[in-house]
Amino acid sequence: MTTPEKLLIERLAPAFARVAGTPADPTIRPSRHADFQCDGALALGRRLGRDAREIAAEVLRYAALDDLCSAAEISGPGFVNLTLAPTALGRSLAGIAADERLGVPRTDRPETIVVDYSGPNTAKEMHVGHLRSTIIGDAAVRVLEWQGHTVLRRNHLGDWGTPFGMLIEHLLDIGETEAAHELSVGDLTGFYQAARRAFDADEEFRVRSRERVVALQAGDPTTLRLWRVLVTESKKYFMAVYARLGVRLTADDFVGESRYNDRLAPLVAELAELGLLRESAGAQCVFPAGFVNRDGEPLPLIVRKSDGGFGYAATDLATLRHRLQDLAADRLLYVVGTPQSGHLEMVFTTGRDAGWHDATARDADRPSAPARIEHVEFGYVLGSDGKILRTRAGASIKLVDLLDEAVSRAAATIAEKNPDLDADARAAVARAVGIGAVKYADLSGDRRKDYRFDYDRMLSFDGNTAPYLQYAHARARSILRRAGAEAPRATGPLVIGEPAERALALRLLAFPDVIAEVGESLDFHRLALHLFELATTVTGFYENCPVLRSTGEIRHSRLILCDLTARTLARGLDLLGIEAPERM
Ligand code: ARG
Repeated sequence: MTTPEKLLIERLAPAFARVAGTPADPTIRPSRHADFQCDGALALGRRLGRDAREIAAEVLRYAALDDLCSAAEISGPGFVNLTLAPTALGRSLAGIAADERLGVPRTDRPETIVVDYSGPNTAKEMHVGHLRSTIIGDAAVRVLEWQGHTVLRRNHLGDWGTPFGMLIEHLLDIGETEAAHELSVGDLTGFYQAARRAFDADEEFRVRSRERVVALQAGDPTTLRLWRVLVTESKKYFMAVYARLGVRLTADDFVGESRYNDRLAPLVAELAELGLLRESAGAQCVFPAGFVNRDGEPLPLIVRKSDGGFGYAATDLATLRHRLQDLAADRLLYVVGTPQSGHLEMVFTTGRDAGWHDATARDADRPSAPARIEHVEFGYVLGSDGKILRTRAGASIKLVDLLDEAVSRAAATIAEKNPDLDADARAAVARAVGIGAVKYADLSGDRRKDYRFDYDRMLSFDGNTAPYLQYAHARARSILRRAGAEAPRATGPLVIGEPAERALALRLLAFPDVIAEVGESLDFHRLALHLFELATTVTGFYENCPVLRSTGEIRHSRLILCDLTARTLARGLDLLGIEAPERM
């Protein structure tokens, strides 16, 4: 499958090589003056000390683009403006229309990629940060899996550490049945806060809690059983949230902090052996180079606390080592909020210093590049007041309430817009729109920035929103239904005559490059923007190019454009984790 851009490069590269005497890059990019612009002659002119316009003319002569381009004009100091010939566009479109994957290739270098996301904490309500991580991580998993990579989902559940002493004692105080009930129905905040209150108010409770932590770490069977109740019931609740969100996380993807327990002591031994550990105020620490506090003093990564306990950093180091060395991952993604960037960078640097990244250490058969480790960071979710989103009481907002509200608002709009839908269909569409709107609001902005949680805006049918894209999809599907034909198939090049058809064609043909780019950058707002532009372009197409009222070849061709647009929107939305209903 080849996009016009690739066809142009295929033709221009040899022409450049012929002029240069060595391989030379044509460098092609979309242009506002034509479809594409080629800048290669400028660089080559500089390299050869020759006039770039002359080089451009020579390249065009050798490349013989007549069948591909309707115009190839040299402009300015030696740019070449390229306008694709309608038949070339029509041929490429017929190609991607016949392809189930819409022209997007499966990767020929499949990688093992670990995606660390969601990561809620046992017996604690998920907050909007966990929501962002879950949504962004899910999109990463979908895109990378679709590209053909092997993706290992890792839900790094907070299920270990000192708070469990107090949580277990509280569980005993209120009774197991009651505790299990509170947790599984999602009253995690209530449970946690009650435990905290007892801990703060009652010395006897504090003593019990500390003893309980010791018992837990020593592997006392009764304590472990109680701990498991807390974890199991919390997981049930998290699974309910994931089901509501429609993300790919399963119960098997919980690989919580506790799973790395046995690796912590060997980790300390290894770091000590490598000479990476130093004692500081009684604690065993790593001081990775380049990390200093405000006063310029080296920052410690605490591996073993002065009381002998291990913390979050030790677990993350053991986790990193496991993923690189045992899972032999080629790429690791940590979908975690920006505030943890310092912590993660210190962990990654330590891993590099320990030599865990090396390809040879990971897998002797693949002496390729060292593993890539990326912090897929994201900003805060803000309320309409521009402050971090919280309930009025000051507690973090309960996540399911947020989702329910979006769905019920969507239901009201759908009832108004399409009163003919029966109740079941309406509920399904409301769910797709409500949940889709929340996800899209998160994914359509640069993830590094904070975003404002605004129901009215995210649920609007105008602008860069999920409902707008879902509607553009449903409209294309409706035209195809009314045409009554089965999925239209291209028998020859599509007819590209009108400017609106050409604009739509170029958008559709750019999809493979967008996916390739997003698989690298994990900047999902670029995919969102592309889909939004596709939806805007197809709206222009509907306005200017009648589909059902046209006839013959043109009608057939336009139906295929509708079909291709619907499939691209549906696929693109699916990669973002968003449903595209047939009608709405
Ligand atoms: N449980 C952590 C939190 O709530 C997130 C875990 C992120 N993943 C990791 N490997 N540290 O902040």
